[in-house]
Amino acid sequence: MPSESTQPTSYDVIVIGAGPGGYVCAFRAAQLGLKVALIDKRATLGGTCLNVGCIPSKALLHSTEQFVFAKTHAADHGIKLGSVEIDVAAMLKKKDGVVAKLTAGVAALAKARKVTVITGTASFVSATEVEVTSSDPKLPSSTSTARYSARHIVIATGSAPVELPFLKFDGQLVVSSDHAIAFEQVPKKLIVVGGGVIGLELGSVWARLGADVTVVEFLPKIAASYDDDIVRAFTRILQKQGLKIEVNAKVTGLRTDGSAKILLAERDGKPLEFPADKILVAVGRRPFTDGLALDKAGVALDDKKRIKVDDHLRTTAANVWAIGDVIAGPMLAHKAEEDGVAVAEWIAGKAGHVNWDLMPAVVYTEPEVASVGLGEDAAKARGLAINVGKFNFAANGRAIANDATDGYVKIIADAKTDRILGAQIIGRGAGELISEIVTHMEYGGSAEDLARTVHAHPTMSEAVKEAALAVSKSALHAI
Ligand code: NAI
Repeated sequence: MPSESTQPTSYDVIVIGAGPGGYVCAFRAAQLGLKVALIDKRATLGGTCLNVGCIPSKALLHSTEQFVFAKTHAADHGIKLGSVEIDVAAMLKKKDGVVAKLTAGVAALAKARKVTVITGTASFVSATEVEVTSSDPKLPSSTSTARYSARHIVIATGSAPVELPFLKFDGQLVVSSDHAIAFEQVPKKLIVVGGGVIGLELGSVWARLGADVTVVEFLPKIAASYDDDIVRAFTRILQKQGLKIEVNAKVTGLRTDGSAKILLAERDGKPLEFPADKILVAVGRRPFTDGLALDKAGVALDDKKRIKVDDHLRTTAANVWAIGDVIAGPMLAHKAEEDGVAVAEWIAGKAGHVNWDLMPAVVYTEPEVASVGLGEDAAKARGLAINVGKFNFAANGRAIANDATDGYVKIIADAKTDRILGAQIIGRGAGELISEIVTHMEYGGSAEDLARTVHAHPTMSEAVKEAALAVSKSALHAI
């Protein structure tokens, strides 16, 4: 049997995929008294996010921020450090320690909640039964598969990096984020294909350590889901940090000149060439349904190869559900978690709820960029009457004291009702600051509600209050 032979073979709920969507769904279902099995092909729980995504990249971002501080800013504070060098192996070990701690924590929680964890690759036999092939090469083939049945099955198999046909991942020269969190040394020339979240975060990591990083983006701007003004500010800041940013550039191929590798692209029909030691392809992720044999369960895909679900995340097969990256919507860990909780509650006959309109998004660079709801550009494109309030961190006392004056908060409110429609923030800790705006929006708050809420002084969050005041042109610390 895939992990141990003593486990039961019949459950109330089987969750396939133990990422933030799947394991949270399993935990919530167990909390609600259901008998749950959680299946994953990885030996450790936590999926892409904990093992090779959100968490290790944040650990590297944190380490490299410390490096930049030590190298570039410590002296301004009167801190004398002598020579500052990076030990890449030690940095990777620190990151691996963070991952190990978190994945072990999830395993301990699963055990405490009496969720049966099965290690292996699942594929459907029918809408109520899966066959699991063990990922453990030590087991004899006669014991390497087993069948499990359940009243409900939740598909939470996540996503995989999109591969470009002329730039296939080889794990050496052309890599995905899986490898770019583990380069053994700082690449001299790193070309990042795709100026989205992964490209900018991991591009920042290696640029901070001295790599010559060029981001090659197909669209006219990086971080394309953000407002133009935010992206202009973001681009300038990243360029100041040493990242080269090439927009409107269509990647066309790869040329080898002796030992030199050159990424080929074109802009307005004119050829561009980028010599590279490493090429990180980060052009998006695709829903991962490989090997699931969805047809055997009667689970259909939509035109973008995502699992088709209704507004309660039910697939086309009775009692088979799907959550997270494998269905439509933003591919974000917190969205998957909310999906997972709601599905567990629906299965248990409770009133699950997800507000998909209020999904915050964050790029964890320095400074961070965060958004929720409707941007200014999108609101204008829809012809909505809006008022916009902005406040620069350069006028915030804590930001000045903390050397964090880059960026600003922008709040978009309905011109008639003053209800907050959205917000975008570029600045240190934007990912933390956005959450109070999400909360106000969740309760239907107005810009005035937010502006009249007391904010501790001195904090960066006062810039959020001032931006809310600026919606009615009443900011106190700006003209
Ligand atoms: P993305 O969708 O964020 O960005 C991909 C970028 O590549 C886009 O700007 C796109 O225009 C560009 N692109 C596409 N094809 C191209 C081509 N042939 N040549 C040049 N540029 C091209 O995707 P990314 O960064 O790969 O991330 C994948 C998913 O993971 C996203 O859904 C993202 O939300 C999620 N993620 C979220 C993080 C966060 O919340 N901080 C961190 C990392 C990933």
